[in-house]
Amino acid sequence: MGNNGYIIKAEALKKVYHLYAEEIVALKGINAAVKKGEFVSVMGPSGAGKTTFLNLVGCLDKHTEGRLEVLGSDLNSLNENQQRNMRLHHLGFVFQEFFLVKELTALENVQLPIIFADDYKNLGWAKHLLERVGLTKRMNHFPKELSGGEMQRVAVARALANKPDILLADEPTGNLDTKNAQGIYDLFRQLGKEESITIVAATHNVKLGYQADRVIHLREGSIEKDEVIVKF
Ligand SMILES: Nc1ncnc2c1ncn2[C@@H]1O[C@H](COP(=O)(O)OP(=O)(O)OP(=O)(O)O)[C@@H](O)[C@H]1O
Ligand SMILES: [Mg+2]
Repeated sequence: MGNNGYIIKAEALKKVYHLYAEEIVALKGINAAVKKGEFVSVMGPSGAGKTTFLNLVGCLDKHTEGRLEVLGSDLNSLNENQQRNMRLHHLGFVFQEFFLVKELTALENVQLPIIFADDYKNLGWAKHLLERVGLTKRMNHFPKELSGGEMQRVAVARALANKPDILLADEPTGNLDTKNAQGIYDLFRQLGKEESITIVAATHNVKLGYQADRVIHLREGSIEKDEVIVKF
């Protein structure tokens, strides 16, 4: 892996969006490093750069300046194919809006990343994950036959289906009630430890955010505070 055990390493990471004639500096040159297996919350007001940071780490967008290493690779030096490979085999994503495929059952939704990764021998893993998130009896339901909390659990199972090294979650509980939101964070903590998955989750929810090992506070594109959470 290189990088002294860091799975994500941002150095003077800058992201500028160009919108018409306007330049928007979403990240102003941040430094942050995340260790394998760490659970990190990214918090901060709307517009602080949380989604921008997750999208860069997730190979969904390219940074403008500085360096961003994920699993020892400098992301801007990867070609399209290598980026795709990173997303398919090493990264998992959970979004606020679930993004389940409505024509597919819960089980098929979770199998999708395994099929995309051409890893058919591991199709059974999808079933295991749905059992793990407490949806044994919902596997053959279509998204419209699931509650919001159940859909988000399917989305979490799907994000884990390719056995990612890093799980990226952008406001994963924004559409859930307190109990379901807590359930998702419990799952992150347990599965993260069991599978030694590194988790980076953006949230506005202070109570949930502080359940991580660390909280990175962003404000106006800069890191305001990088806080290790000591648990007793
Ligand atoms: N595609 C884009 N083009 C231009 N500007 C953008 C784009 N995406 C984000 N921005 C701007 O970059 C800044 C950071 O946005 P970002 O989405 O990262 O914030 P955020 O912390 O995720 O906010 P929220 O809590 O509302 O989700 C904002 O000022 C936003 O308006
Ligand atoms: Mg956002």
